[in-house]
Amino acid sequence: MAKRLNLAAPSLIAACALALACVAPLRAVAAEPAVAAEVGSIQQAARQGADIFANDRFGGAATCETCHANGGRTAGKLPNGKEIPSLAGAAAAFPRFVAKRQTVVTLSQQIARCIAGGVQGTPPAFGSPEMVDLETYITSLSKGAVMGQQFN
Ligand code: HEC
Repeated sequence: MAKRLNLAAPSLIAACALALACVAPLRAVAAEPAVAAEVGSIQQAARQGADIFANDRFGGAATCETCHANGGRTAGKLPNGKEIPSLAGAAAAFPRFVAKRQTVVTLSQQIARCIAGGVQGTPPAFGSPEMVDLETYITSLSKGAVMGQQFN
């Protein structure tokens, strides 16, 4: 019995080391503090997001509203006059495959792209209060929309 245990010990240690090696990076990520935006309700977060949408320039030249008119509720217009679709229902279609870049893009990544490209500003960190508020607002424009149609 003792001999069997001795034999098992090294492989047990190896297994533990392997398991630790695999778990350690995950734990490091999980231990990173998520910046929790303290709000009283989802409606409050959506209102804050609407305010950011209408007014924040993120250190850049435009606001979301510059292109996405009426808080994104109606069709928008680019500075060159080209029409773009409203953001109503848009959140329900994320994550989305973008064939041109061969990547799957999440809603927050799309928002960050619009801030860096459209607004010409600096996107807030993923998971930051500003980003969470914006995601919440954009998602509120998808109330009742059918999710997952991109998987058809
Ligand atoms: C300079 C113009 C411009 C600005 C400013 C801009 N966007 Fe956009 N946005 C676009 C364009 C163009 C698209 C792609 C439209 C399309 O679907 O063809 C887009 C797409 C999006 C989409 C995805 C829509 C969909 O149907 O998939 C979201 C969400 C979005 N923008 C959010 C934002 C937010 C939030 C801001 C402000 C932080 C912002 N945008 C600022 C031009 C802009």
